[in-house]
Amino acid sequence: MKVNEVDYSALTNELHTIGDYLRFATSEFNQAELYFGHGTNNAWHEAITLVMFAVSLPVELSEQVFNCRLTVHEKLAVIALINRRITEQLPAAYLTNHAQFAGLPFYVDERVLVPRSPIAELIEQHFSPMFTADTPPQRILDLCTGSGCIAIACAVTFPEAEVDALDLSVDALTVAQINIENHGLTEQVIPIQSDVFTGIQGQSYDLIVTNPPYVDQDDVDALPQEYLHEPVMGLGSGFDGLDIVREILAQAASHLNDNGVLICEVGNSQIHVEQVYPEVPFTWLTFERGGHGVFMLTKDQLTQHSNCFTQAFEQK
Ligand SMILES: C[S@@+](CC[C@H](N)C(=O)[O-])C[C@H]1O[C@@H](n2cnc3c(N)ncnc32)[C@H](O)[C@@H]1O
Repeated sequence: MKVNEVDYSALTNELHTIGDYLRFATSEFNQAELYFGHGTNNAWHEAITLVMFAVSLPVELSEQVFNCRLTVHEKLAVIALINRRITEQLPAAYLTNHAQFAGLPFYVDERVLVPRSPIAELIEQHFSPMFTADTPPQRILDLCTGSGCIAIACAVTFPEAEVDALDLSVDALTVAQINIENHGLTEQVIPIQSDVFTGIQGQSYDLIVTNPPYVDQDDVDALPQEYLHEPVMGLGSGFDGLDIVREILAQAASHLNDNGVLICEVGNSQIHVEQVYPEVPFTWLTFERGGHGVFMLTKDQLTQHSNCFTQAFEQK
């Protein structure tokens, strides 16, 4: 019944306003040395997310209501949530079942990774300059869709496009389906269960966009506790993190239309990609809001280097 060894009833007698609880939560989070990497990057913003959720107020209102007092019932709800964040080291998104991606709201739970890919920025920019207003992608594959965040954001950005949302995990696809329905996109975004490309033989796309599992074993071993609540198959992918990426690179060309493009996130495993494929001219994309390790290859480049992609996949 304690948050960092502080008595609940003493707390509710001493702290009264939303601002009081935000300050308190921030101090507790800092003392508990929590890790922030799932939508916020500091204790203060994490506190705002959780305190405002506990009292059913939108985060955007926080400054206007700092001085508003809470009822005892609300204080206890806030303390309980702060307590769970600390003792269970759960990402805030799993406590609130909510994440934002590309400016859109998504339902999330422990069946899917918390959306945080820098690919959001590319979607918001309509994948310019790879695609233009005159030549938008008409068929899009979100490979390894998880919550469906990339597929859904693409569908909203390109309302004329057909979007396939593919994942191996039935659990993830169940969450993706919730989000597809919440966004009213059941006609436009189709969930597909498949192990990489095996379930979509004969299908081809203008854009394959993917945030696959790519964390290498060293990084998996060093993951903060918060990440251990995420699905294992969403993170690690072999010793150098490239097991799935090798497969994608070996097979993507045969699922791309002429002038098609593959966009793939590999994060810190960029270094392994460059070691395994030294002769391939990957275009590494840059981000204004942070993020790294996302490359672009055209169908022509994938075809030109197909021998090297096939060899790297078959030798593994
Ligand atoms: C890094 S998560 C990305 C989720 C989502 N696209 C995002 O950006 O938040 C990777 C996803 O790949 C899925 N996955 C893992 N292995 C797979 C495979 N062999 N074929 C298809 N999907 C796979 C996992 O279930 C997980 O949902």
